[in-house]
Amino acid sequence: MTAAEIKRLAGRRAVDELVTNGMKIGLGTGSTAIEAVRRMAELVRQSVLQDILVVPTSFQTEVDCRRMGLSLWSLNDPVINGRLDLTIDGADEVDPDWNLIKGGGGAMLIEKIIAHASDTYCIVADESKIVNRLGEKTPVPVEIVPEALLTVSNSLEALGSSVDLRMARMKDGPVITDHGNFILDISFKETFDPRSLETEIKAIPGVMASGIFTRKVTDLFIGMENGKIDHRKR
Ligand code: A5P
Repeated sequence: MTAAEIKRLAGRRAVDELVTNGMKIGLGTGSTAIEAVRRMAELVRQSVLQDILVVPTSFQTEVDCRRMGLSLWSLNDPVINGRLDLTIDGADEVDPDWNLIKGGGGAMLIEKIIAHASDTYCIVADESKIVNRLGEKTPVPVEIVPEALLTVSNSLEALGSSVDLRMARMKDGPVITDHGNFILDISFKETFDPRSLETEIKAIPGVMASGIFTRKVTDLFIGMENGKIDHRKR
């Protein structure tokens, strides 16, 4: 099976198993989360699912939801009132304690807010995302206010990381996030404790959010190469 097919199965399965009528749902960003969006839109069109209110985590997910006819809301709408029943999102890495690295697509600021607001927090991924320790395959993205580029970079280097400003393709200069910020991709030679590092990074003035997510994931749908989906629950 191709990676795309595995992601499709994982995204669909999460919707089929977790979504029920009347839910308020956060929808993540990326090539796996979009499969959950597609499945939800399909079930809403068929009236299998009704009264579903969705809150997107990025401009791109919002555009996709709008195009597929899903009912879009903001966390600040009184009907949502800052609380979601469920969020379905992807991840770049998942460690044995279900800590995550997210933000490969640069959307971790709203992804983290929405994760925090959700009763059930579900991650959909293919098995290539499973690692023994965070940082094994991907750097940790950190969204920062542009004015703080050098001060935050210095502080992150003082934590022992090497720091790369994420550069845009087909445009001179850095990637600009949905919120007008920059992204620093930071790498560590040594193993780090995800929970302490998340706290230390967040304490640096100018940091909006890091891609380390240590809030406990409640449901993990891992797509295997043989086409099986492993649903783990906590
Ligand atoms: C978006 O910023 C990320 O947090 C994504 O959830 C993550 O990069 C996973 O994306 P894929 O499902 O495309 O690998």
